[in-house]
Amino acid sequence: MTYIEDSKSAAELLFDRKHQLFLNFNAHTNQAKNSILYLNNKLITFAKNLSHKSNLNYLDVGCGFGDKTLSMIKAIQTYHPIKATALDPSPQLLSMFQEEISDQTIDIICSTWEDYHPVTCFDFISSIHTFYYIDNWKCAILKMIDNLAVGGKICIALRSIDPVCQFRDYFYKKIHKDGRKERNCEELCELLKQLNIQYEIDYVDSVLDISDCLIQNEKGKQLIEFVLRQPYENLHNISNEIILYLKQIQNNSHLTQRDGYIWISKQ
Ligand SMILES: C[S@@+](CC[C@H](N)C(=O)[O-])C[C@H]1O[C@@H](n2cnc3c(N)ncnc32)[C@H](O)[C@@H]1O
Repeated sequence: MTYIEDSKSAAELLFDRKHQLFLNFNAHTNQAKNSILYLNNKLITFAKNLSHKSNLNYLDVGCGFGDKTLSMIKAIQTYHPIKATALDPSPQLLSMFQEEISDQTIDIICSTWEDYHPVTCFDFISSIHTFYYIDNWKCAILKMIDNLAVGGKICIALRSIDPVCQFRDYFYKKIHKDGRKERNCEELCELLKQLNIQYEIDYVDSVLDISDCLIQNEKGKQLIEFVLRQPYENLHNISNEIILYLKQIQNNSHLTQRDGYIWISKQ
């Protein structure tokens, strides 16, 4: 069996070749809705306190199809004019985003964060559920701080070690021989402490509906593909074990999720 081993290939599988896996994941969870509610509240307060600036320069790293990007732009625009840049390496997701924004002026850039060379500093940089697909976190964070204006903020969201993360880790042991674990917000906090970078963290809870997984229909298989970052045919040998595991940890056909939102400010 040849498994997908590196994070770049996993990102290409999930967001480009099979971007419907990501859309299918979104359809099974209130994670995005809760994220948008949380971010709107935070950003309205942030934008209110930035009244001295003319245009708020905003960058979203890993914008996907842009639902959160657009709602963050809207929240900031309540108090501030904004110049927005949205970056993602998936042409498929970016073209969906482009269709939504015919009346908005947003710079859309098709690139990974690692390959992008910003020509300006940003007042706000967000990266929501993207760091799983970036290998060198230290470089990625330092590059964000380098490109952040004084008084600006970075927000990075990542899953905590919640039941979905534990499920993934349990089966990663069977899929990968290198003992890897899913990267999570606790790991990022550890790195920031080591780098002596001050941060604040908030947690946002949500649920994942796994009823389709339990009845093993097509959508359920796609959800498992997304969570384990592997085509379902690669999981053939362990598919019964996966269903058994999910049956044991589910609550009313749902798994609880907890995401950490890590905020870094530049004084
Ligand atoms: C789980 S999706 C999140 C999308 C969006 N931020 C959201 O919260 O809905 C992860 C996104 O990260 C993008 N991505 C993968 N590798 C990346 C990289 N190295 N740099 C920037 N974005 C990346 C993917 O194409 C995908 O759109």
